[in-house]
Amino acid sequence: MGELLYEGKAKKLFSTKDPNVLLVQYKDTATAFNGEKKEVLEGKGALNNKITSYFFDLLAENQIPSHFLERLSTLEQLVKRVTIVPLEVVVRNITAGSFAKRLGLEEGKPLPFPIVEFYYKDDNLGDPLILEDHIYALEITSEDIVSQMKKQALQINKILYEHMEQRGIRLVDFKLEFGLDQNEEVLLADEISPDTCRFWDLKSGDKLDKDRFRRNLGNVIEAYQEIDKRLGGQ
Ligand code: CDP
Repeated sequence: MGELLYEGKAKKLFSTKDPNVLLVQYKDTATAFNGEKKEVLEGKGALNNKITSYFFDLLAENQIPSHFLERLSTLEQLVKRVTIVPLEVVVRNITAGSFAKRLGLEEGKPLPFPIVEFYYKDDNLGDPLILEDHIYALEITSEDIVSQMKKQALQINKILYEHMEQRGIRLVDFKLEFGLDQNEEVLLADEISPDTCRFWDLKSGDKLDKDRFRRNLGNVIEAYQEIDKRLGGQ
């Protein structure tokens, strides 16, 4: 294995022999509330590696480029090196989480159209919500890149929403990250997993995502396994 370049809350990043390729290793650590709540959930890393690889393959089949190259092993995948745009892009179909809380709404209400939000990736600030004008005033990235991220996020939402609905799951909301490759191409990066999406069972309404951890609902791994199973995993 190459040199450890970065260790995040849920993944480690290593260099490889190819300067344009990195190795991602998924960890079993679960964190919430900006790292305040932390636990080891055995099997989470393997499930998130598998589920993310599945979604990136599905998106590639639907002409959405990403940094994903291949799943190497239970915990590892190879990705293209990109420079991450320090913005989290959240898409919402149903009211939940911080959106419901901030605006005093009940969770579970369908929105009339998918909402796209940006959060500034800064752990010291707790990843605050940021407006487009702030992004340009602070020169975080360009209008062109923001518009490409928004367009791709909405396309991804459509693909994932329909795919999950056919498997009995409501895609409530999710978070994406994008990066720029050597040619300044905007590429979907990071992960798409029950850590970064809200998935509700269509029939029972059961939460099958990280809210089970955040809200101490129990059976976290069982929920992630259920998502894997709905996607055809064993
Ligand atoms: O999850 P929380 O209620 O704190 O925030 P949210 O803004 O309602 O989160 C919207 C969606 O983005 C959820 O599916 C979260 O799991 C995901 N998210 C994430 O993956 N990483 C973050 N740092 C924040 C949100």
